[in-house]
Amino acid sequence: MNNANNNLEEYSDPIEYDCEYGKPEPECSFYSQIAKKVGNPILEIACGTGRISIPLALQGFKVTGIDVCEGMIKRGIEKTTNIPIEFKVSDCRTFELDQYFQMVFMTGNSFQALLTRIDQEMLLQSIRKHLSSNGIFAFDTRFPSLAELSKTSTKEEYWHTYINSKGISVSVSGYHIYDPINQIAEYTTFRRWLENDQPKMRTTKISIRYTFPLEMEALLYYNGFKIEQRFGNWDRTILKPNSEKMIYLCTLR
Ligand SMILES: C[S@@+](CC[C@H](N)C(=O)[O-])C[C@H]1O[C@@H](n2cnc3c(N)ncnc32)[C@H](O)[C@@H]1O
Repeated sequence: MNNANNNLEEYSDPIEYDCEYGKPEPECSFYSQIAKKVGNPILEIACGTGRISIPLALQGFKVTGIDVCEGMIKRGIEKTTNIPIEFKVSDCRTFELDQYFQMVFMTGNSFQALLTRIDQEMLLQSIRKHLSSNGIFAFDTRFPSLAELSKTSTKEEYWHTYINSKGISVSVSGYHIYDPINQIAEYTTFRRWLENDQPKMRTTKISIRYTFPLEMEALLYYNGFKIEQRFGNWDRTILKPNSEKMIYLCTLR
């Protein structure tokens, strides 16, 4: 089992993380629709600062969120002093909650934090222990687009811009090196901004694992899940060669 804490640099500043990635849509509508069908309670795995868990709790769902990163969970708790929701620091591969859930979900490509097959299988076995017999396990991960993976290089490219917690515009760029044997891409991210006319920069690294569609099918099958639906986008279009995402709705087999 890999030490998850060695790969959390990207989440070292949860307030900045929220500024950059905090927008809940379109994922929130997607998971909320499923929750309406399957009912309570709901478990979000690798919930971060509660980007999706919190709006679901505000819609009246009974939500528990777990994440291995203490800082992300602390930020989630700070944001929800008056909202009924439970947050817990736990590793998704080994968590033990004394409860079954109607929906277990994992979003924001968190599935890609599981870097080996053993890690993925530990996650799936932990979910099996917590999913009701008629429950749904739903998750999303990036599509392993060959065009994207083959960009492997140390040549920096511009990715996006966001407004940070001080109201300053931050330019985000970077590169990735892809290891096709282990299907792991290591992303290096540069965030640059001006503070009092002085240039500032923060560099982070993260490794993420890509899983190919038929590999995912086998992984889910041999770990006791049945794929009920598979989409290539939040609008529920089917998975296509140019899809950016793979989104799975699974039941216990
Ligand atoms: C890209 S963020 C997504 C957060 C949240 N799901 C969202 O969509 O905003 C990935 C999250 O996975 C968490 N994570 C990584 N490895 C984990 C593990 N082994 N167990 C639980 N959480 C983990 C990180 O701490 C981080 O909060």
